[in-house]
Amino acid sequence: MTSPNDVPPEVDMYTPSPARIYDYVLGGKDNFEVDRAIARPILEQAPALRDLAVANRRFLERVVHYMVHECGIAQLLDIGSGLPTANNVHQIAQRINPKARVVYVDNDPTVHVQAEALIVGDQFTRYVDGDVRTPERILSHPVTRELIDFTQPVGVLFVSLLQFVHDSDDPHGVVARILDEMPSGSHVGIAHVTDHGIDPVVHKKIEEMYASVPNRFYFRSREQVARFFSGWDIVPPGVVYGNDWIVTAESVATTQLPMNFWCGVARKP
Ligand SMILES: C[S@@+](CC[C@H](N)C(=O)[O-])C[C@H]1O[C@@H](n2cnc3c(N)ncnc32)[C@H](O)[C@@H]1O
Repeated sequence: MTSPNDVPPEVDMYTPSPARIYDYVLGGKDNFEVDRAIARPILEQAPALRDLAVANRRFLERVVHYMVHECGIAQLLDIGSGLPTANNVHQIAQRINPKARVVYVDNDPTVHVQAEALIVGDQFTRYVDGDVRTPERILSHPVTRELIDFTQPVGVLFVSLLQFVHDSDDPHGVVARILDEMPSGSHVGIAHVTDHGIDPVVHKKIEEMYASVPNRFYFRSREQVARFFSGWDIVPPGVVYGNDWIVTAESVATTQLPMNFWCGVARKP
């Protein structure tokens, strides 16, 4: 399941984790009191945050469906995958193509432990303990190399991850490094939280929620998000709010929940 160097680490249940806070916001069970204590009062004051997280999840589902069903992509690299919830990327992909391969990547030990439990015995789905800020390790990892054939189109996902990467860690540079490795016909899907048009209460509460975790949170503009796709062909309708990202009848948004995320998909020429 993992390389010999990737023994699942100890989970620290006394330090809040962004992945577990997100799990709690989504209504999941894989979180500790330290995480709930941060998220609970904030959700009470800004319940729209839960809708935002659900809407993000729905975007992810539509993108995976589009990549696998419409584009015939049979291998996905999901970076900043988060904790397994219902309807995970490998489950969506493998319902369409039972042999679709999925590599999940995250830097949170809780995600590592949960992912290993969920995908045990699944030869088409693996987990890599990796940090997007060190792309070489993800790209050269033996599990990535075993599951992903870099001569065939890859679907790369950075869904609600890049807002955790500060400008000083060069998010555009690390995304470009990963995308450089992908062959023609590959697709990338990105969702990134924005403060554009956001309810000021929700804005303040998001900042409060992540102020006490090790990873801070950074809003970016549409132009900054569009730059992640540089050199790739943006799939219509372009970089839009998540609920407006509609490509086919099958990928129509199933919710009219609020969606202050800039989202897009692009194809490598
Ligand atoms: C908001 S969750 C998004 C999960 C999933 N992609 C989704 O959209 O439902 C963000 C995830 O990114 C992970 N993350 C944050 N910083 C990271 C980094 N530098 N490298 C890898 N993963 C990171 C967190 O651990 C968390 O699981």
